[in-house]
Amino acid sequence: MSILITGGAGFIGSNFVLDWLGQSDERVVNLDKLTYAGNLENLASLQGDARHVFVHGDIGDFTLVSRLLAEHQPRAVVNFAAESHVDRSIHGPGEFIQTNIVSTFHLLEALRAHWGALEGEARSGFRLLHVSTDEVYGSLGAGEPAFTETHRYEPNSPYSASKAASDHLVRAYHHTYGLPVVTTNCSNNYGPYHFPEKLIPLMIVNALAGKPLPVYGDGQQVRDWLYVTDHCSAIRHVLADGRPGETYNVGGWNEKTNLEIVHTVCALLDELQPRTDGRPYREQIAYVTDRPGHDRRYAIDARKLGRELGWKPAETFETGIRKTVAWYLDHRPWVANVLSGSYRDWVKKQYGD
Ligand code: NAD
Ligand code: DAU
Repeated sequence: MSILITGGAGFIGSNFVLDWLGQSDERVVNLDKLTYAGNLENLASLQGDARHVFVHGDIGDFTLVSRLLAEHQPRAVVNFAAESHVDRSIHGPGEFIQTNIVSTFHLLEALRAHWGALEGEARSGFRLLHVSTDEVYGSLGAGEPAFTETHRYEPNSPYSASKAASDHLVRAYHHTYGLPVVTTNCSNNYGPYHFPEKLIPLMIVNALAGKPLPVYGDGQQVRDWLYVTDHCSAIRHVLADGRPGETYNVGGWNEKTNLEIVHTVCALLDELQPRTDGRPYREQIAYVTDRPGHDRRYAIDARKLGRELGWKPAETFETGIRKTVAWYLDHRPWVANVLSGSYRDWVKKQYGD
């Protein structure tokens, strides 16, 4: 048996692959385009492990995906592949439309053709799990209840609009063609292997480098944080027992303002790696121009996942953020390779030309 993972060299995808193979011997075929966000160094511990088959390619390549489905006959596909950074989507939405909408459509077409020809248990047990985000629901006011699965879609950035479009396509392929899909909408993840252009790793890396810690606007925007391996365990639950056609919200009940996050990171660094001048890291905070169209608050109501599938997160924010800061302190070479861009040489070093 095997599963096909897309985007498995990115932040959440690589955590998922490592987590999966840490608990199961079921083979993982990992299809990733290796954009700037794809880093095979995250998977270095799997070097020579026959349970991991890496394929360099695009989910939008119908011929390649069809070949992989025919060759490996995976019992499930988990689709992590996406352009994922809101700020990049504001500077250049084109790649987001291409990957998150057009390439997802080609992936769905390949899956429709493959699944349509399956029979018996291979057909009834097959699943596509589409990994999505809470950002499709738009922004909440201060007193409003957290997003449930029936909250209306109201995406505000090119990123969230492109993810919303992919969610709708996935839904339509279930409704129209019967493709057995499940969708997860998760809140902000953090943890190891997070690319240091996102808030938490950026703050850790900049703090250690003595650089400013850029806080957008007033820093009072609220995000709902989930440790990445808890997201991985939620996906395993949904893959195992989620009902086809359903969506499941995933979140850690950890609403924090961005400023609280930055202060927490600074305090942990003060404790674990004090500045040589003895001053607190929070002195490096710099308020900068706000993100255009910045969503004020996200909050996820994850009760359906708990009630129906028995999932609950293992980490509190306090345990997860401490582990995260410690991981970055223990993995300086990984950070240095990402910052210098030399992580891209890994493919060549590992696999030759
Ligand atoms: P990431 O940007 O770290 O990784 C994305 C991966 O997809 C990279 O390895 C990249 O090379 C690959 N990729 C991009 N385009 C591709 C294509 N056309 N074909 C094949 N591979 C391609 O993203 P992430 O933070 O790991 O997020 C993974 C998924 O989870 C995304 O769908 C994202 O929308 C969703 N999500 C992320 C978060 C979060 O906080 N990071 C929260 C909820 C949902
Ligand atoms: O909510 C889930 C989403 O979380 C995912 O769908 C996205 O893929 C993921 O990137 C993340 O999006 P955000 O925009 O919330 O994450 P980011 O880390 O970019 O920003 C978190 C908050 O911190 C946001 O309010 C913007 C703010 N911020 C971010 C950066 C990079 C700053 O104040 N300063 C910064 O330098």
